[in-house]
Amino acid sequence: MNRPLKFMSVVGARPNFMKVAPLIRAMEPYGNEIEHQLIHTGQHYDRPMSDAILSDLEMPLPDINLSVGSGTHAHQTARMMTEIEPVLAGFDPDIVIVPGDVNSTMATAVTACKLGFKVAHVEAGLRSFDMSMPEEVNRRITDSISEFLFTPDEIASLNLEMEGVDPARIHFVGNVMIDSLEWCLERARASRFAKSLGLRPGNYAVLTLHRPTNTDFKEKLEEILDAVVSSIGEFPVIFPAHPRTQNNIEQFGMLDWFAKRSGRSGIRLFEPFGYFDFLGLISDSRMVLTDSGGLQEETTALGIPCVTIRENTERPITIRKGTNLLAGTQRAGIVEAIVHAMDMEDRQSCRPEKWDGKAAQRIISALTAVCRK
Ligand code: UD1
Repeated sequence: MNRPLKFMSVVGARPNFMKVAPLIRAMEPYGNEIEHQLIHTGQHYDRPMSDAILSDLEMPLPDINLSVGSGTHAHQTARMMTEIEPVLAGFDPDIVIVPGDVNSTMATAVTACKLGFKVAHVEAGLRSFDMSMPEEVNRRITDSISEFLFTPDEIASLNLEMEGVDPARIHFVGNVMIDSLEWCLERARASRFAKSLGLRPGNYAVLTLHRPTNTDFKEKLEEILDAVVSSIGEFPVIFPAHPRTQNNIEQFGMLDWFAKRSGRSGIRLFEPFGYFDFLGLISDSRMVLTDSGGLQEETTALGIPCVTIRENTERPITIRKGTNLLAGTQRAGIVEAIVHAMDMEDRQSCRPEKWDGKAAQRIISALTAVCRK
């Protein structure tokens, strides 16, 4: 084949950007050999959730933004499919690359597969075994129809093998999210964002919450925040809230909850931070409290204790490595995990195999080799 290889990457939500940025960088050495199009579905559209992160990662502007926006799962997914279908047909890619487990991932994979395009799933094989999570549905559908399954760790590869997937489709390449972390960690640390918030290294925690099961019900959100505050007292807790969480806090009339505790507890509410600032912040923190998926991995790579406020995790490797504690979502479990995390030593070298900043190179090298065959 003498013409350039045509790769299309599709992003939509905040955690997708860190996964695709290193892939784009890994394509650079191939020059004109690869023609790449970057499509943004517009699932996330607020500046801190999208443009600020793209800019921190020095990503090119998307070639097309489908501006799909928010909605019910059915509405959002259907709009993505309708909008992306002509874009896929028009570009006629050799490979469509989809990262992660968000609605944009699944909508693109299904549409591309039905048009006869080959799909490469980056971050394949993760399983929480909890079908009440929309992400688990997205992962299973995407994995079942993708030609190339790029896994971040060996547990993920094993999950796919146990499901009977042809081993020829499974490629254990490592974690692209850690490629992005490696790429900017030094600069993120140098920016001293924590200091600008008046924080001392190792002397504060970072909290993020965005899962609907934790944030869409006032009693649950209050239970979690009470558990955090009662176990941590005046220790500073920096809480950059996802727009969903921010909206709920306002609608539930909970701004009062924060006002009442100001002075008596160290919890401070913020808008979401940029990627650099956030990475700098967690890298110097005492611990992270979260219901996110990616943060469980970033803290493992950094050797920072993480309390995961969820009933299960699709990233058990982070627990095996000893940095991540699965706390559940009930008060007692959260309190116990935070107390334990306070006593944990930072762990220096607990990186899983191939979390070395080179996962994206492996992916692009595998894809170009297959296409040139
Ligand atoms: C999505 C992903 C989740 C991922 C998370 C990271 C799915 C099913 N979920 O969840 O796996 O961990 O992104 O952030 O794809 N909103 C805004 N501005 C934005 C984006 C969202 O205000 O830029 C608000 C809207 O009210 C929207 C709500 O947040 O309805 C939820 O957004 P949505 O994209 O549906 O899911 P996330 O909760 O962000």
